[in-house]
Amino acid sequence: MAKSKTQFICQNCGAVHNRWAGKCEGCGEWNTIVEEDPMGGIGGGPGKTPKKGRPVALYNLSGESEQAPRIHTHIAELDRALGGGFVRGSAVLIGGDPGIGKSTLLMQAAAALSRNKHRIVYVSGEEAVAQVRLRAQRLDAAETEVLLAAETNVEDILATLSEGKRPDLVIIDSIQTLWSDIVESAPGTVAQVRTGVQAMIRFAKQTGAAMVLVGHVTKEGQIAGPRVVEHMVDAVLYFEGDRGHHYRILRTVKNRFGPTDEIGVFEMSDKGLREVANPSELFLGERNAKAPGAAVFAGMEGTRPVLVEVQALVAATSLGTPRRAVIGWDSARLSMILAVLEAHCGVRLGQHDVYLNVAGGYRISEPAADLAVAAALVSSLAGLALPADCVYFGEISLSGAVRAVSQTAHRLKEADKLGFASAVLPSGSSDLPKASGGRWHEVEALADLVARIAGSKNALKPVEEDA
Ligand code: TYD
Ligand code: MG
Repeated sequence: MAKSKTQFICQNCGAVHNRWAGKCEGCGEWNTIVEEDPMGGIGGGPGKTPKKGRPVALYNLSGESEQAPRIHTHIAELDRALGGGFVRGSAVLIGGDPGIGKSTLLMQAAAALSRNKHRIVYVSGEEAVAQVRLRAQRLDAAETEVLLAAETNVEDILATLSEGKRPDLVIIDSIQTLWSDIVESAPGTVAQVRTGVQAMIRFAKQTGAAMVLVGHVTKEGQIAGPRVVEHMVDAVLYFEGDRGHHYRILRTVKNRFGPTDEIGVFEMSDKGLREVANPSELFLGERNAKAPGAAVFAGMEGTRPVLVEVQALVAATSLGTPRRAVIGWDSARLSMILAVLEAHCGVRLGQHDVYLNVAGGYRISEPAADLAVAAALVSSLAGLALPADCVYFGEISLSGAVRAVSQTAHRLKEADKLGFASAVLPSGSSDLPKASGGRWHEVEALADLVARIAGSKNALKPVEEDA
């Protein structure tokens, strides 16, 4: 039986189906499945005639190993997210929403590296040379020796890169514009994007140049997103941020040469991205410490502590089903905290709308924020402001117990540095610093925290007692 030539590939997750369907079974997205010919591509797809295999050398795990040679950008936040700089011969994918600042960041990195006598080639497939020059002028990068090309054809790009001296770093902006003659599908499809990226990675491995690939996160399935090449590259960084706010976070999600869960924090200004060395100060910048419903959470991002303010508004409602709205946190987790407050602490919120917001447009993913969220909720309901110099962290279990979280010492040190003299934290934290003079208030159960807040002053609207 003749094998069918084409496959149906989801443009969102890359799942392969053998027939077209409206919805991808792999990721649940609609209208993302496109017919493609997978046989094309540089070295891609099975060859026409299988060649005879050749044995390769096998090695022991022990033995000589070199540190990955790195190119430091001296943009500390970028180097940190990369695990110490770009690695020669490796490929890094930088993903993010369109307009978030990927090209800006990379132009600044290119300029910084070029000033340190590295040979940088910037290939822009989205903007014309004149546009890129304009941006470079704005970023004070125009006087550097960054080499610029506006090209999208994979073969032409490779021919250009192979000419002359080997570049130290190549930036491809973006992978979705790459197209190769070998593949028949339209630019932006999974087959084209994968083929282009594969060719670029091969160039990096062969020449030892560091390769940076820019990928736009796509909401619609019409063009392939960066996810479809995540497995091929050595490191994946996502550039995130909220359009309404100026700060941007560069988050590492995969790194074969360094730690993941690191972040770099930047602020978008009219002269490009500025590094933010102390993100806590940024997130706590506009704080009104006297208002009820605000609690400061001492969180961690990788190795780095970050203090953010959690704001809650609890208001009586006349609706049958009260509203729950969350920004910057997980709504399922909020429901859980509300249920635990109700079941174990006698705090009734069934007749109240609950709004929760993480200040500055920041997103918290740690369960350690539970205690800060609960504190903000109870504070808002009781109409009592929490102490202005106190931070909160700890995970809450369904039984109402407060569980210890990691890196207590780090969190407390950052809090101390920013003038927070006290903390409410889980009891039994292993690395609790000793010489704290009783400023740490350990709580065993959520009910202890509720009692602390309700008992702090005469409550305007007392928490119901039946716990
Ligand atoms: P850009 O780097 O083009 O985004 P991406 O490559 O991720 O699509 O950034 C675009 C946005 O950044 C644009 O809306 C304008 C803004 N911006 C500034 O605010 N200041 C600057 O100095 C620059 C260069 C851009
Ligand atoms: Mg761009």
